[in-house]
Amino acid sequence: MYVYKKRRDIVAAVAPYLEAQRTIGFVPTMGALHQGHIELVNRAVKENEVVVVSIFINPTQFNTTEDLVNYPRTLDADIMLLQEVSTHILVFTPDVKEVYPSDITSLHYDFGGLEHEMEGKFRPGHFDGVGTVLKHFFEIVKPTRAYFGEKDFQQLQIVKKLVDIEKMSVQIIGCPIFREESGLALSSRNKRLNNEQLKASPLIYKTLVQVKKKFGTKSVIELKHWVFEQFEHNATLELEYFEIAKTSDLKSVEQKKENIKYRAFIAVFAGEIRLIDNIALN
Ligand code: PAF
Repeated sequence: MYVYKKRRDIVAAVAPYLEAQRTIGFVPTMGALHQGHIELVNRAVKENEVVVVSIFINPTQFNTTEDLVNYPRTLDADIMLLQEVSTHILVFTPDVKEVYPSDITSLHYDFGGLEHEMEGKFRPGHFDGVGTVLKHFFEIVKPTRAYFGEKDFQQLQIVKKLVDIEKMSVQIIGCPIFREESGLALSSRNKRLNNEQLKASPLIYKTLVQVKKKFGTKSVIELKHWVFEQFEHNATLELEYFEIAKTSDLKSVEQKKENIKYRAFIAVFAGEIRLIDNIALN
């Protein structure tokens, strides 16, 4: 396994692949790897001649210091997991200074309004942070393809927009959400859930599945009300938002129209831990 901490070292490691016009797959992560990440890495390994996985907890995309400080850090276990996939993966795990040499600040992006919907409303500046770190990483790694999970569906759309804005040639590939048997979408934050929260959290996906079932016969307002009721008296989970949005521009809707694709999006707090999920409705 090759683990690089310095920007110049990972640049040197990918240089021969770039010169030989080999395909480079890239899986950016913040560590605390789980099977969802491993699915992305497996796909990247299948589709590319070399794979880079970054493990970097990006400070500019966190909204609270508490969330940043409490984000799980499991580097040794992460490297062991990656080693099981392939010993040829290049792991890039830089210090903050390598990525942000002077200021730890974000660039400001206009993602065509995508950044103001859902997560954008509740996590101001979050997508600027994501865009900034990915711009840096895409410039360093120069990947052919980069892989993202659909759990962060809004992030995936924003990354596609980012590469348009920055005129980068990397192909952005979205991969299906990987779930626990209970239906809970895998997330690094799940590692922080206590037993009670773990027991309660499958309600999130169960609710989405029911919404999908009811979508043909109920109005958006009825569905929103129904979802609100599911969480209203729940002592462990607190609903932050539930939205039905157009898949194309992620704008929330109050009414359905024919021939338009919709998705449902949800964010829920289990104590301090924020969980998100989404589902295609039609
Ligand atoms: O999805 C994540 O883990 C992060 O937002 C990403 C894409 C690695 C950027 O820091």
